[in-house]
Amino acid sequence: METFVANAHKKGQSIGFVPTMGALHAGHISLVERAVAENDVTVVSVFVNPTQFNNPDDLATYPRDEESDFKLLAQAGISVAFAPQVDEIYPGGVENRHKKTFNLGFASSVMEGKYRPGHFQGVAEVVSRLFGIVRPTRAYFGEKDFQQIAVIRNMVETEGINVEIVPCPIKRGDDGLALSSRNALLTPAQRNVAPEIHRALAQSVQYAKDHSVKATHDTVVEQINAVPDMQVEYFEIVDGRTLLPVEEWSESPWVVGCITVYCGKVRLIDNICYKKTI
Ligand code: PAJ
Repeated sequence: METFVANAHKKGQSIGFVPTMGALHAGHISLVERAVAENDVTVVSVFVNPTQFNNPDDLATYPRDEESDFKLLAQAGISVAFAPQVDEIYPGGVENRHKKTFNLGFASSVMEGKYRPGHFQGVAEVVSRLFGIVRPTRAYFGEKDFQQIAVIRNMVETEGINVEIVPCPIKRGDDGLALSSRNALLTPAQRNVAPEIHRALAQSVQYAKDHSVKATHDTVVEQINAVPDMQVEYFEIVDGRTLLPVEEWSESPWVVGCITVYCGKVRLIDNICYKKTI
C-alpha cells in the first residue's frame, strides 16, 4: 500500500480514498464511483475497526463478506483494495496499542458520542492511521453518518492533515430505507417496518413548515415509537455545522434532524435536512 501511494505521489496523481468496514452495498459503491470519477487513482479500505465498537456483541455480529466486497470493488474500477489485519493498523494488537486521545470538539460529545462512548475516538484513531498510510488527496464520507463527517473534519483540522473531505448524499432503497450493512441483520418483519424511519422523517419536513421545532421532534418520535419493535434512541434537531441543538427554525441556516432507532436489537441511523441556505 505504501509503495503504491509513494508511486502515485511521485507521478503527481491525485488519490481518492473511501474508508469502509466492508459488507459493501450500493451506498458504499456510490462513494467509490464518485472517488473513481474525481481522482487519478482510488483506494478503498475494508477494515472492521475494533476500537470504534463500544459494544462487543455489535463487533462480533458485524456482517463480513470480503469475497463479495472485492468483486464489487473490482467492478467499480478502483485501483487498490486495502484490507489490513488488525495488527497492521494497531501494531502489537488493540490492547497494547499506543492510544492517542483526539480533540474532536463539541460535535463528538452529543448524539452518537453520548450513546456510544468512545466510538468517535475509535473512528478518529483508525481514520487518522489510514490517512497516514494512504495519504489521500480527497476522502469520501457518506452523509448517512452525518455526525461522523463533522467529527472527521474536526480531527483533520486539529491534526493538521492535508486532505479534502468530500460529503456524499445518502443512498436509499426504493422504499426509502437508508442502505446499511446492518440492514442484513433485520428479520423479514423488521425489514418490512424499517422504512417507517425515513417515511416519518420525510413527512416531518412538510410538517415543520408550520410547526415548531419541538412539535416536529415529538411527532417524529411518536410516529416511529408507534411501530411494533421500534424504539427511538434519540432524535435531535441540530445545526448542520456545529451540531448544537436548534430551538427555532430561524436560528440557523442549516438544520438537520439526526435519529437513531432500535429495530429489535439492530441499531439504525438516519437523518433528514430541514433547511439549508448556506
Ligand atoms: P461504514 O459503515 O462501512 O461506512 C463507510 C462509508 O460509507 C461511510 O462514510 C458511510 O457514511 C458511507 N455509507 C454507508 N451507508 C451509506 C449510504 N446508504 N449512503 C451513502 N453513504 C453511505 O463509517 C464507517 O464504515 C467507519 O466508521 C469508517 C469511516 C470506515 C471508520 O472505520
